[in-house]
Amino acid sequence: MDDQTTTPYERVLARRHAEGWTFLLEAARDPRTTGAVAPSGKALARALTDPVRARAPRPLAVLEAGAGTGAVTRALIPRLAPGSRLDVVDANPRFAARLRHLVRTHPRLAGSPEQVRVHQSLVEDLDTGRRYDVIVSGLPLTNFTPRQAETVMDRYLELLHPGGTLTYFAYLGTRHARALFATRAEARRHRAVEEVMAGYQRRYATGCRTVRTNLPPARVWQLRRPARSLPAPRTGPAPAEAGR
Ligand SMILES: C[S@@+](CC[C@H](N)C(=O)[O-])C[C@H]1O[C@@H](n2cnc3c(N)ncnc32)[C@H](O)[C@@H]1O
Repeated sequence: MDDQTTTPYERVLARRHAEGWTFLLEAARDPRTTGAVAPSGKALARALTDPVRARAPRPLAVLEAGAGTGAVTRALIPRLAPGSRLDVVDANPRFAARLRHLVRTHPRLAGSPEQVRVHQSLVEDLDTGRRYDVIVSGLPLTNFTPRQAETVMDRYLELLHPGGTLTYFAYLGTRHARALFATRAEARRHRAVEEVMAGYQRRYATGCRTVRTNLPPARVWQLRRPARSLPAPRTGPAPAEAGR
């Protein structure tokens, strides 16, 4: 589409349309890693990026893992205080190329493109030599093996500064959908990952809310790395859901 002859609204619509198709194609190519058939909606992106807004105007080191076509990246960029740094990582090279284009052309980054860096890598293998105040994760953790989910969560905790915050989401109702259509082994794997995640929630969660307007609705968790050393696992119920 010719940028000179279209309105900004038409350009946004065209971009969303193109992103929708890219996402669908990647989901068809590799459903387990892509983990969704459409990018996150605005309400979900806002909920995931809340800790960055809450800490403004302090300059922050922020990591976004599993950025896809950049739905959450676009919510993050305007929230970055001057002096902040954002590392964006995605395993998929086609998504990484889109994210680089987003960063190159984003008007808020015109004077400081080095504020945002895109990395094409598994987040487990990412080593920027930096620790983060906030990590925003879009990874489809419930598609992983329990071991992989644990590896990623432990890496997030390592990458956070003491007192730093991790947000991530899980779609609602996936266990019931899997119970209907999945093999027994797949349903068992899903339950085991949920147990792994519940362990991290019991130890580190500071809040969780449901975003019903997303398609599909999603639950957003906020975890905090303790200010001192990481405590040993403890049992008991996860904190009650807040701010539904
Ligand atoms: C559910 S999509 C979320 C995309 C985007 N954050 C959003 O909300 O629209 C998950 C993304 O995580 C990426 N991904 C999956 N496993 C990954 C890993 N181990 N390391 C980095 N990225 C990963 C996929 O390529 C995909 O882009």
